[in-house]
Amino acid sequence: MTPSPPFPPGFLWGTATAAYQIEGGWNEDGKGESIWDRFSHTSGKIIDGSNGNVACDHYHRWPADVQLMADLGLKAYRFSIAWTRILPSGRGQVNQAGLDFYSRLVDALLAAGITPFITLYHWDLPQALQDAGGWPARATAEAFVEYADVVSRSLGDRVKHWITHNEPWCTSFLGHQVGEHAPGRYDMRQALATSHHVLLSHGLAVPALRRNSPGSEVGITLNFTYAQAASPSVYDQTLARWADGYFNRWFTEPLFGRGYPADMTASYTQTFIPDGLTWVQPGDMAAIATPLDFLGVNYYTREIFRDQSAKDNLPQEVFPAPDEERTLMGWEIYPEGLYRLLNRLHFEYQIPKLYVTENGVSWPDAVDAAGQVHDPRRIRYLHDHFAAAQRALAAGVPLAGYFVWSLMDNFEWAKGYKQRFGLIYVDYETQTRIPKHSAAWLRRVIAAHQLLPPAAT
Ligand code: FCB
Repeated sequence: MTPSPPFPPGFLWGTATAAYQIEGGWNEDGKGESIWDRFSHTSGKIIDGSNGNVACDHYHRWPADVQLMADLGLKAYRFSIAWTRILPSGRGQVNQAGLDFYSRLVDALLAAGITPFITLYHWDLPQALQDAGGWPARATAEAFVEYADVVSRSLGDRVKHWITHNEPWCTSFLGHQVGEHAPGRYDMRQALATSHHVLLSHGLAVPALRRNSPGSEVGITLNFTYAQAASPSVYDQTLARWADGYFNRWFTEPLFGRGYPADMTASYTQTFIPDGLTWVQPGDMAAIATPLDFLGVNYYTREIFRDQSAKDNLPQEVFPAPDEERTLMGWEIYPEGLYRLLNRLHFEYQIPKLYVTENGVSWPDAVDAAGQVHDPRRIRYLHDHFAAAQRALAAGVPLAGYFVWSLMDNFEWAKGYKQRFGLIYVDYETQTRIPKHSAAWLRRVIAAHQLLPPAAT
């Protein structure tokens, strides 16, 4: 077999986490309450009744966790900041202890040769801001800019990679339309207003980040559902196009200067918001389209759409992928979708630089009698997605790095602790960390800077 070509020089290998999923210490050292504290403390919201009060206790164990990252040979680490550690009430009073925590973490990463990528908002809005109207209120966008300013004034000398938001689709629709995430609302109007204020807050924060962190790269991370029609039927094609608008284009089009997609605005106006996008003010779209240094791409799966109401005599059911092609989350494994997505983003929007900021897989991993965690399916999954990324690079996509979700098993939001996405296994009783076999494989890939066969552990 011919060895695969090396990844480009400087290509960054990383892992990703988010504050609420790993930190714990939910009310320590002056931290305020966030919407995820409130949501997970509300009965019936989290599948296993758990919460992030302790999670991986990273708030206390971060030095050992940085050592584990160094052992993996990671070049980069994407983590998020808990807004409520910095501004416990969302704005106003700054909590120095919170800034100090992240400052120490950044210093330790840099000392270990690991480039920090900071996500400012990974879903944990201060509850005080929620009480004042949350993301459906425009004032929350202004509060975000204040928060971004405080954080980047403190860390901007050392942190040179900034991600304003993680997955605005989830903040908007999982949080406000289908109620599965905090703050648990069921209101499409609020979801749409949220999407605008999140994008606006991003656009307004970019200049502050650039000012406080000279020479930095600033971007945003979106999640993509690779949407395909079940058949060439016009009904299925129309539905898949709608899904692509709902999940993907609603965010990419305004970010890259094309405004909200007209087909989606018409559809939403017809069904949910008869008076249209009343929250959009003059100047907003220009702010949202402030040029970015990079786009962060989170990719996990594709979805196939079949119009159940269609009168085209095709079978109504989409034949689901077999279980062995699905992860514990039920998500189909489809590496080809990553290849196509990266191509589409680059060639359609001429994006200067892309990072895969999340990609990974959950399985019901377990520790064997020898104290090891064998996860060959994760290795296969990562191998096949890295290969897709490599093909995209060969096609000319300026992909600059790849962050595996996740460094370690953690609190998977409404799904609790059953979903294990980590390269490192976490025993939540003892907080013992055990690098899985996939971690050993990734370490070898990073060292070789080249894709290795799945068996190379
Ligand atoms: C993404 C989230 C991340 C994690 C993965 C599995 O949508 O950004 O926090 O939950 O899914």
